[in-house]
Amino acid sequence: MTGNDFVVTPWEVRGDVDYGKLIEKFGTKRIDEKLLLRIKKHSKELHPMLRRDIFYSHRGFDRALTEYENGNPFVLYTGRGPSGHTHLGHLMPWIFTKYLQDTFKTKLLFQITDDEKFLLNERLSLDDTRDFAYENILDIIALGFDPKNTEIFLDTELIKSQYKLALKVAKKITFSTIKATFGFSDSSNIGMIFFTSIQSVPCFLESERRGKDVPVLIPCAIDQDPHFRLTRDVAERIGYPKPSLVHCKFFPSLQGSDKMSASSQESCIYTVDSPSTARKKIMNAFTGGQETIKEQREKGGNPDVCSVYQYLLYIFEDDDRKIKEQYEQCRCGELICGDHKKYLSEKVETFLVRHQENREKAKDRIEEYMVRD
Ligand code: TRP
Repeated sequence: MTGNDFVVTPWEVRGDVDYGKLIEKFGTKRIDEKLLLRIKKHSKELHPMLRRDIFYSHRGFDRALTEYENGNPFVLYTGRGPSGHTHLGHLMPWIFTKYLQDTFKTKLLFQITDDEKFLLNERLSLDDTRDFAYENILDIIALGFDPKNTEIFLDTELIKSQYKLALKVAKKITFSTIKATFGFSDSSNIGMIFFTSIQSVPCFLESERRGKDVPVLIPCAIDQDPHFRLTRDVAERIGYPKPSLVHCKFFPSLQGSDKMSASSQESCIYTVDSPSTARKKIMNAFTGGQETIKEQREKGGNPDVCSVYQYLLYIFEDDDRKIKEQYEQCRCGELICGDHKKYLSEKVETFLVRHQENREKAKDRIEEYMVRD
């Protein structure tokens, strides 16, 4: 890998991601002004993640809107691979999905791929992935999805309903396509080679259940796109409409962009972290600041590489005027990293206290959301 190279697959993100180049590489479309205006017609206000170019790319979002406008509302589909506790970055696309559900009053299918994480991860047993699945589900419910319009399921617990559709997909995808798409080799396990067919199923499940074409819109981080590119390729050949997608960028690491490793406990804040743990992590975070306060005052900082600024931009500062102010004050050396960290920390702590209360309440509500065979 040379200087500017980067790698994005569903299982690995490496290097400095150039999001413009990724659009070209994957062959997706940028969300442009025209599409934003169309979304705005249906929504009181555009979500900050749209205004700030965080959800920035799509495939066929416009078609899903046309269907919706013609009285054929889409179903939302997203998912989670339960390989550990939920961190704030995982919440980002889910928060956006909730906005879409509230705006379009649509049904949501939430696939939990305990099978995928078992297959992928040498150290995880099926009991582990099931346990993490139910931990993660508490976070999903805590965000307030409409229980009447949301179905959450573990692959291992809804396999009967999914299996025939998975087979239809699998029959149309060759091993060489899978190798070319994901970079698998002859030593990859055969479960992983098959897995894309399982992740495709919820794209077709609702059409299958209702016996008519139901459009699907998938909000996801852009690393999931390769799966759905294959799904879109086979959809019409097996008699279903192509799913539409809307993609977001990756949530930044607290340790700076070159250490995107989720394995480091310090690089992210988990939803089960205590507010004081979260504060400590933020106080140790990588910023775009100078070595000393004096230097900061003179030269200013660089918010573009600063994890504190990015956290606020991505999730924790709704107010466009305030985020712009912070950007400018950082640049000109008026804002000091320590103060900015405290500002972020208060917001994160407030969020965690409330989220953890909702998470406790969610424990009695799991069955309102789950579907099983
Ligand atoms: N593979 C995803 C992960 O590892 C989980 C997932 C399944 C998903 N279906 C999805 C994510 C649909 C986004 C959209 O996290």
